[in-house]
Amino acid sequence: MTCTVIVGGFYGDEGKGKLIAYLAQKDKISIAVRGGVGPNAGHTFAFNGKKYKVRMLPSAGLNMGTRLFIGPGVLVDPVILQAEIKIFDSQDRTFVDPNCAIIEKKHVEKDSSLDHLAHKVGTTGTGTGPANADRALRIAKIARDVPELAVYLEDVSDAINRAIENSENILAEGTQGTYLSLYHGNYPYVTSKDVTASAICSDVGIGPKSVDEVLVVFKSYVTRVGQGPLNEELSSDEAGNRGWQEFGSVTGRQRRAAPFDLNLAKKAIKINSASQLAVTKLDILYPECAGLKEYANLPDKAKQFIENIENQTGKPVTLIGTGEDLNEVIDRRDQI
Ligand code: IMP
Ligand code: MG
Repeated sequence: MTCTVIVGGFYGDEGKGKLIAYLAQKDKISIAVRGGVGPNAGHTFAFNGKKYKVRMLPSAGLNMGTRLFIGPGVLVDPVILQAEIKIFDSQDRTFVDPNCAIIEKKHVEKDSSLDHLAHKVGTTGTGTGPANADRALRIAKIARDVPELAVYLEDVSDAINRAIENSENILAEGTQGTYLSLYHGNYPYVTSKDVTASAICSDVGIGPKSVDEVLVVFKSYVTRVGQGPLNEELSSDEAGNRGWQEFGSVTGRQRRAAPFDLNLAKKAIKINSASQLAVTKLDILYPECAGLKEYANLPDKAKQFIENIENQTGKPVTLIGTGEDLNEVIDRRDQI
């Protein structure tokens, strides 16, 4: 029985949502808890031909046995949250910490109208930066002030620490990626708080010694939306030729693309104290991998790609994404 923290190793959009949706079903997760910034994240997953996107709830909503928590460090947009609760029919298993700060219309307006945020940083325009600023000023509303959230209020850290004591399986879901961290990324081209594994623990109210596994998720290539440096960035034509063209799930903006960056990966592994790695979208790099579920069936060059990451970082790649559906995963956790 384990408590696992899942974070992104690059600039977000590594495919955390899909892996969390997979693990929730596979491991019969009893609690999934969202840490991270707020609805600036868009976590997507597909199951039986249907696509889902969540911005507020943890990505485990399809698994009816999983209770869905939002930690006190997370910003809540009540409109977005209510819509997601409907989609996943999760009224009775959604819990919001009373201390979550609230995103209001004025925050969204500021995020999309201030030149510095909208153009220099290139934010998602979802109000998260201005809401976190108000929170630091201690003038933000919090969830306990919002009547329509009253039915969901629960002391999240208390619930999770009790579940840890009862040896339940718990997933703590981070958002964005290591290099969008306010502290560890390329300031000012970053999000409005830290998003590394330690921050996710703090967001949900668990101490570092309560964590058994830290899974750092990388995509087989690097993408970045918004401004800021991107090593070995490809032209958009070249990204298109390679099939690496992606569009943001929250903003629809085209993502910039670059090859897998081992130096960034090595540093992310240290900052997050990764115990395991995941590599997603291997089928985009090597189309022959599409839908495969057994490592032994991968073509040699795909195996070499994975094994090079393992040799260079000293960490096992335990989960490999080979397609969109949440079950299109090679799961090698039994080999470590
Ligand atoms: P903000 O988090 O909306 O303030 O945006 C700050 C920076 O983080 C911008 O470059 C955004 O594009 C980026 N960003 C924020 N959330 C995500 C995400 O979930 N995926 C990818 N990039 C993100
Ligand atoms: Mg995303």
